[in-house]
Amino acid sequence: MSLNEELKTTEDAALAKIGAAGDVAALERVRPEALGKSSALRGFLRQLGKLPAEERPEAGRVINEAQARVEAAFEEKLATLRDAELARRLDTERVDVTMPPPRPITGSLHPLTLTRREVERIFISMGYEVAEGPEIETEYNNFDALNIKADHPARDMHDTFYLDTPAGGILRTHTSPVQIRYMLKHKPPLAIIAPGRVFRVDDVDATHSPVFHQVEGLLVDKKVSMAHLKSTLIEFLRALYSDDIEIRFRPSYFPFTEPSAEIDMKWRSGKGDTWLEMGGAGMVHPNVLRNVGIDPAEYSGFAFGCGLERLAMLRYGLSAMRPLYENDIRYLRQFR
Ligand code: PHE
Repeated sequence: MSLNEELKTTEDAALAKIGAAGDVAALERVRPEALGKSSALRGFLRQLGKLPAEERPEAGRVINEAQARVEAAFEEKLATLRDAELARRLDTERVDVTMPPPRPITGSLHPLTLTRREVERIFISMGYEVAEGPEIETEYNNFDALNIKADHPARDMHDTFYLDTPAGGILRTHTSPVQIRYMLKHKPPLAIIAPGRVFRVDDVDATHSPVFHQVEGLLVDKKVSMAHLKSTLIEFLRALYSDDIEIRFRPSYFPFTEPSAEIDMKWRSGKGDTWLEMGGAGMVHPNVLRNVGIDPAEYSGFAFGCGLERLAMLRYGLSAMRPLYENDIRYLRQFR
């Protein structure tokens, strides 16, 4: 085969491969053998030395022309493939600017938080302060100072979480110890609410959880009576629900209040009217006042404790408490 024939075969092979490349990536894989230093066409240049001197210029020119045609074909193909890819992307990645933008994902407050804030707002408007206490308490603050004697069933191992640490301590079983903490630091007149988490070893069902929330209330001043307690709670529940709710006070017993009452609210549901227990209340027991250095002959007070879950369930018409703790975002985002 003459040089020209060999050259033609090599050039055609390179052009065929370039022509066959379906996309830019495939074309780039052809680049070394078509245009690279060790391509077949370059191989011819290296063989020029074997030719007689007078044939070399002509042969060199022919090889270079072939090389130039392959290069041109490569560049042209590259431009075509790039155009095609751009066109395809413009087609598939097109944005319809008339579509509404995707809605940003926003968080929302937990229904218990929303309810707590509403309770706080109502009591702050009545001149109360919001107080806090720790969730790990001493047995003294949680029980003894509240006139709950050592043999009281509430202190039974089955109700209270005891901490297995050298310092001891318990998880508070109610928010009432905040009464003690606050009265040790502040002198009457005083009016607080203390919302927070409480803990009880309990059978878990639709309405019980070992962790739940209460809102404590405490007011101490001169000549405070049961009438103040009743009007305050009625005012509170009306503000939270509606003006036409019915409330009743049932005689009850708590070691830290005397007299004591259970607060019930009438609830109209599809199944008819029912009285629901909203919390406990009463006049602060003289022993409790004495335990914090307040003279019961000079001062009297009332206290109450409501379950925050119950307040929230009635506020939002919830039938079960459990979903409040399951953190299912589909459930929680309904309360926005
Ligand atoms: N601490 C009581 C409970 O957990 C509720 C309560 C608070 C009762 C204040 C009277 C006064 O059941």
